Amino acid sequence: GYAVARAAREAGAQVLLVSGPTALPTPFGVQRIDVETAQQMFDAVMARVAQAQVFIATAAVADWRPAQVAAQKQKKSPDAPQPAIALQTNPDILASVAALPQPPYCVGFAAESENLIAHAAAKRARKNVPLLVGNLGPDTFGLDDNRLELFDASGHHPLGAGRKIDLARRLVAEVARRLEASDSPAQTPPGR
Ligand code: C5P
Repeated sequence: GYAVARAAREAGAQVLLVSGPTALPTPFGVQRIDVETAQQMFDAVMARVAQAQVFIATAAVADWRPAQVAAQKQKKSPDAPQPAIALQTNPDILASVAALPQPPYCVGFAAESENLIAHAAAKRARKNVPLLVGNLGPDTFGLDDNRLELFDASGHHPLGAGRKIDLARRLVAEVARRLEASDSPAQTPPGR
């Protein structure tokens, strides 16, 4: 996410980064809004997304949150049963943005642990986004390098392997190309 924000800014975009807690420095020229929970991220995105031309969802948002939050430390005692933690589903931010009446160009991410091609293609269709970036999560967590695959309506294409910042620059160029293509009338002659 931070590499993509930096690459988009370098390419000339005005970038608003809605970020969970991290030690990473904010990329130069990027405006950052800090959030701590999935609900806060949802609220921060939904309040501002109408002004966005592109929405890139890179956050690994928790799918569930505890249904109840204890105000005080929960003390253990020798006779008490194991506590159960009931969960409640978090809103899906990407799917919610993509379902807006006039959505920005939406790009999703999928970090899978197996069957990347099948899972990522299904995810793109389920969340109804034009472009989804897939990778095998365990191969990349905490590293500077990654290997990405792009999924769109016509199938999947490798974006290549390399340092995250280089892949982010390639992704931003790819998004810019697709935006321009979707703006151009079909009869535009080649070489415009
Ligand atoms: O369903 P899954 O979490 O694998 O989908 C990943 C994609 O959906 C990512 O782009 C992620 O940022 C986005 N997402 C979201 N809100 C959620 C869960 C995932 O925007 N609650």
